[in-house]
Amino acid sequence: MTLLKINGLTKTFGGLRAILNFDLEVKKGQIIGLIGPNGAGKTTIFNLITGFLHSDSGVVYFKDKKINNLKPYQICKLGISRTFQLVKPFLEMSVLGNVIVGSIYGKNEKKISLMNAEKNAIEILDLVKLMSKKNVLASNLTYGDKKRLELAKALATNPELLLLDEVMGGLNPVELSEFMKIIKDINYNGITLVLIEHVMQAIMELGVPIPLIPATHSDPWRPPIPIHGGHLGRSEATLGF
Ligand SMILES: Nc1ncnc2c1ncn2[C@@H]1O[C@H](COP(=O)(O)OP(=O)(O)OP(=O)(O)O)[C@@H](O)[C@H]1O
Ligand SMILES: [Mg+2]
Repeated sequence: MTLLKINGLTKTFGGLRAILNFDLEVKKGQIIGLIGPNGAGKTTIFNLITGFLHSDSGVVYFKDKKINNLKPYQICKLGISRTFQLVKPFLEMSVLGNVIVGSIYGKNEKKISLMNAEKNAIEILDLVKLMSKKNVLASNLTYGDKKRLELAKALATNPELLLLDEVMGGLNPVELSEFMKIIKDINYNGITLVLIEHVMQAIMELGVPIPLIPATHSDPWRPPIPIHGGHLGRSEATLGF
């Protein structure tokens, strides 16, 4: 089953063509890795999918619904969540408080009580291995723990599709291997993932790398091509798609 389909996405900033005729199809259960040099347009693609930017042309479908002109909170409620390249926790709130906010304002906003939001947040903190720091102020976390919190906040909104923007950048080897295990667990729990990552070890181990070539004024745009068909998590065959 196709979860996300992008056709002909184009975005220009002033005279700079950041993205030109970008196509992508993501099937339920996949892990896709968007790779490319600095400035290739990777974060711009996430901003276009999640409504933080509007495209000049092109269409984004999520489960066959066109989501181009929706606002970020509406897209979040449909089941798409994302992390930010520059982490953005509520610095004066505790780790638990940050994740509860995600639970309350996520996909289940109208249904979830504060008690259930806290229960959900605790399960997520357990998954990302931050339980021991649940009462710590976000501003006092280490860089690696802030990355985990960013992931936890996004997970708390109960997404079907999670977009991760360089969540593993700057981690030491131990943190990196712990983070990759968490990402595999998230995917195993049924969440489809698109990751932007410069850490090639992570991309090659986790999913299908799709290289992005920057769109410049003079270069012809080359469409992204998967490097190989690797896929972790449950296969489509076992899921019966
Ligand atoms: N809001 C904006 N206004 C103007 N230019 C922008 C804006 N956002 C991105 N750009 C430009 O668009 C191009 C693509 O930027 P983008 O941040 O998407 O690249 P990236 O692939 O995520 O790079 P990196 O690997 O460094 O994070 C860059 O030249 C950038 O300067
Ligand atoms: Mg970026």
